[in-house]
Amino acid sequence: MLTVAVLISGTGSNLRALLEAAASPDFPARVVVVGADREADGFVHAEDFGIPTVLVPFREFETREQWGDELRRQIDVWTPDLVVLSGLMRLLPQGVVDAWAPALINTHPAYLPEFPGAHGVRDALAAGVAETGASVIVVDGGVDSGPILAQERVAVLPGDTEATLHERIKPVERRLLIDVVRGIATGEIDLDAVAATP
Ligand code: GRF
Repeated sequence: MLTVAVLISGTGSNLRALLEAAASPDFPARVVVVGADREADGFVHAEDFGIPTVLVPFREFETREQWGDELRRQIDVWTPDLVVLSGLMRLLPQGVVDAWAPALINTHPAYLPEFPGAHGVRDALAAGVAETGASVIVVDGGVDSGPILAQERVAVLPGDTEATLHERIKPVERRLLIDVVRGIATGEIDLDAVAATP
């Protein structure tokens, strides 16, 4: 059974989808802890499923490195096999990425390498593209630059706002995330091999 830590900052709707999938006895992974850099609304989903939570407020630390080290220390107590960034709106310091990679994945609401960064949906709309998408990647040292594990296109519709487009992308993100976690758990996805491929 693959054990998973999930890190969030926001509403945690992708986290909830993963928790629901993992509640099925057939699913080969379990969420063992949910962490956040702030009082995230999404903690409620962890509580609903009886999953422990870890709050390490970014603002209480002098440096990103100190925050990251403490987050890592508290998450590693649960010895997760995989760490999922599911809407964590902070860059992890390089030392933490190095410690967890390649078992460290991120979901992103755009078709990477298009529109990386914190405003992937807004940037796609501003660019006037007809299609954007969703991606699940391995986290490396860059911003949304790691190897792509799964991705799918989503159409931009006339009249879309950032909110309506994001709400259409999120179900795709959720499906991709669940598929990728299942694939890692079954061995169908070999993260060491993916990370070693140039
Ligand atoms: C997702 O689109 C994630 O990729 C992005 O923020 C959103 C998180 O949504 N960075 P939620 O907190 O899972 O509802």
